[in-house]
Amino acid sequence: MLNFTHDIPTKLHFGKGAIEHLALALDAFGKNVLLAYGGGSVKRSGLYDTILDILRDGNFKVTELDGIEPNPRIESVERGVELCRQNGIDVILAVGGGSTIDCGKAVATGIFWEGALWDMVTSRHGQLRALPIVDVLTIAATGSEFDGGGVISNMALNQKVGNSYTYPAVSICDPTYTFTVPAYQTAAGSADIMSHVFEGYFSRTMDSDLSDGIAEAILKSVMRNCPTALANPEDYEARANLMADSSVACSGIPEYGKQSTGWPCHAMEHQLSAFYDITHGVGLAILTPRWMRHILAKDATTLPRFVRFARNVMGLDGDDELSLAHAAIDALEDYLTSTGIPMALTELGIGREHFAEMTARANRGGRLDNAFVPLTDEDIEQILEACL
Ligand code: NZQ
Ligand code: ZN
Repeated sequence: MLNFTHDIPTKLHFGKGAIEHLALALDAFGKNVLLAYGGGSVKRSGLYDTILDILRDGNFKVTELDGIEPNPRIESVERGVELCRQNGIDVILAVGGGSTIDCGKAVATGIFWEGALWDMVTSRHGQLRALPIVDVLTIAATGSEFDGGGVISNMALNQKVGNSYTYPAVSICDPTYTFTVPAYQTAAGSADIMSHVFEGYFSRTMDSDLSDGIAEAILKSVMRNCPTALANPEDYEARANLMADSSVACSGIPEYGKQSTGWPCHAMEHQLSAFYDITHGVGLAILTPRWMRHILAKDATTLPRFVRFARNVMGLDGDDELSLAHAAIDALEDYLTSTGIPMALTELGIGREHFAEMTARANRGGRLDNAFVPLTDEDIEQILEACL
C-alpha cells in the first residue's frame, strides 16, 4: 500500500428531506446567491420552486445562471463569472448534475482569475482561491458533489479538459430528486460511477485490501441498483444506493494507497465528448470492455486482477483463468448493454475521422504512462477502432 493524504472538506447531507439544511448552509457565507442550473429539469421537477421558496423565506438575494449545458461550455463559465462580478455574489448554489456543479466550481474560481478563463481551465494551477459553493445534486453519476474536480468544454477547439477547482462546502444529496432522471441518463450515470471505480481498481498496486473491497462493493451495488431504478424510477432504496455510490466512487477513497493510473478510459472518453458532445457515461460504457480486452491481450500480468474481478464482482468461477477473465469482461458488456445505452460508436454517428487527433490528445504529456498497462498512441487507436 502506498502513502496517501486525503482531505475532503465537503459536508454532505444525505437523504430524504436533506434540503432542510440549505438555508443554514448558505447563510454561513452570505445573502447574495448565484443560483446555477441546467436546461430546465429542475423547473419541470418542481425543485426550482422549492429552492426559490427557501431562498425567499431566508431573505437571500438571487441572481440566476441558467441553461448550463451537459458537458458545460466555457461560455457558461464566462457568463457566471460576469454575473458574480456584477452582483457581488457571496456564494454559488449549483442545483443539478455534474455539469452544473462543475460549471459552478469553475465560476467560483474564475472570479479570482485574471485573464482569459480558458487559460484557467487548461493550466496546471492546482487548487485556486474560490468563492464557496453549495450544491443540490439531482443525478447520481460524476461524484462532483464530493470532489474538487470539474470538466469544462470548448467546442470551438474540440477540447474538454478536467482540472481541479474547489470542493463544494456543502452538498445536499436527496435521492428523491433523482426520481425524474430519464432512463438513458440513469444508465449513463451508473456507467460513469462504475468507470470511476475501474480506473483505480485496475492499478499496479495489488495489496490495498480496503480500496479494492470498497471498489468491489460499489461495482456490485451499481449493477444491482441500476436495473431496479430503470424498472422503477421511484424506488428510493435503488436511487439512494446509486447516489451514495456516486459520491464515494470519485472521492479518491477507492484509490487509497494505490498508484494513480491516469484514468485511461476517461482520457479517451473526454476526446469523444470534445469532438461529438456525447454523454460522458455512454462513452465510458462503450470504451470500458474494449479497453479491458486490449490490455488483457497486451499484458498477461494483468490476468490475476481480471480473475479477481471475475470472482469478486461478476460472481463467476472456473479453473481456466484466461477464460474466466474473458467471461467477466463479456458479462460486464452484457450488463451494460442490458441498461439500454448505445454500446458502439457507430450508433452515435461516430466514425474514425478524428481518431488520430483524439489519440494524441488523450495521451498528451505521457498521461497514460503509469496506467495499469501503459497505453501508446497505437494502443489507443486500436481501442477506439474496437469501439466502432
Ligand atoms: O440540464 P438539465 O435540464 O438539468 O438536464 C440534465 C441533463 O440533460 C439531466 N438531469 C439531471 N438531473 C435530472 C435530469 N433530468 C431529469 N431529472 C433530474 N433529476 O441529465 C442530463 C445530464 O446532466 P449532467 O449534469 O450533464 O450529468 P452528469 O452528472 O453525468 O455530468 C456530466 C458532466 O460531468 C463531467 C462529465 O465529463 C460531464 O461534463 N464529469 C465530472 C467529474 C467531476 N467533477 O469529478 C468527473 C466525471 O468523470 C466527469 O468527467
Ligand atoms: Zn466520469
